[in-house]
Amino acid sequence: MATLKDQLTVNLLKEEQSPQNKITVVGVGAVGMACAISILSKDLADELALADVTEDKLKGETMALQHGSLVLRTPKIVSGKDCHVTANSTLVIITAGPRQQEGESRLHLVQRHVNFFTFIIPNVVKYSPNCKVLIVSNPVDILTYVAWKISGFPKNRVIGSGCHLDSARFRYLMGERLGVHPSSCQGWVLGEHGDSSVSVWSEVNVAGVSLKSLHPNLGTDADKEQWKEVHKQMVDSAYEVIELKGYRSWAIGLSVADLAESMMKNLRRVHPISTMIKGPYGIKDDVFLSVPCILGQNGISDVVKVTLTPEEEARLKKSTDTRWGIQKELQF
Ligand code: LAC
Repeated sequence: MATLKDQLTVNLLKEEQSPQNKITVVGVGAVGMACAISILSKDLADELALADVTEDKLKGETMALQHGSLVLRTPKIVSGKDCHVTANSTLVIITAGPRQQEGESRLHLVQRHVNFFTFIIPNVVKYSPNCKVLIVSNPVDILTYVAWKISGFPKNRVIGSGCHLDSARFRYLMGERLGVHPSSCQGWVLGEHGDSSVSVWSEVNVAGVSLKSLHPNLGTDADKEQWKEVHKQMVDSAYEVIELKGYRSWAIGLSVADLAESMMKNLRRVHPISTMIKGPYGIKDDVFLSVPCILGQNGISDVVKVTLTPEEEARLKKSTDTRWGIQKELQF
């Protein structure tokens, strides 16, 4: 007996087709799901896969997205505990990792992340040997280094979301002060994602007009308008979101989808994201940090050489040295 499907259609294809633009999100916590919904809303993939070890939550989150299929343009949303579900991805986004326990040191947490990465990264490589890997889990710069080391991938294909979000926060706050949309406020936050990030005041501008040239004390203690507060607010507000709502999600999700768009559409836009940069700015160790990078279908193809003031360069170097101190103790 022919099935109803067979009565309705004539199948011309004998084999199932592989996805052409598949994105996998590893981890279905608040960050992973914010990435997933942001990616879906931008129509970036023909298949979205979610992977996690917590089965009920994974299934529930997947169903919740699948039920939106009518208004989405991503025809296949799949999930699984087994890494096989990630196969043939163009881009794999890692948001998962253990939570910090009460009283646990940062180094100890990093080591537990590393243990998780030694399981997940070889599987990502096995099932999608040509993919780009975007690390979002924190501490993102150190974990991008770990992922790069474990994967054996060339450095252009292992990317940390880095200061893309810090820069977005900076530009939002700058825009609020000036009454200008953040996209027209040019400002770069570089270095470590988080506490020791460096705001490059010498380059801050609107329509190419340097704010520093109009207001020479910009970003210094002597500044009567205390623009330095914008940097502090940017760093502090990330913690404030956790204090207020318990976790961070939407901004990082939107930020990750923006990076995914550059890669999936080969846009070659410049983003402040984490890459391994050795040589410039007096950096001699294998550390990842955010610098302006050209991002496209091959991942990071080029790094833009930014001219920093000696003070900015010294701050960048200092944050790098702190990170290296932690990184060199890691075992994997
Ligand atoms: C933040 C997280 C993603 O800054 O680190 O929101």
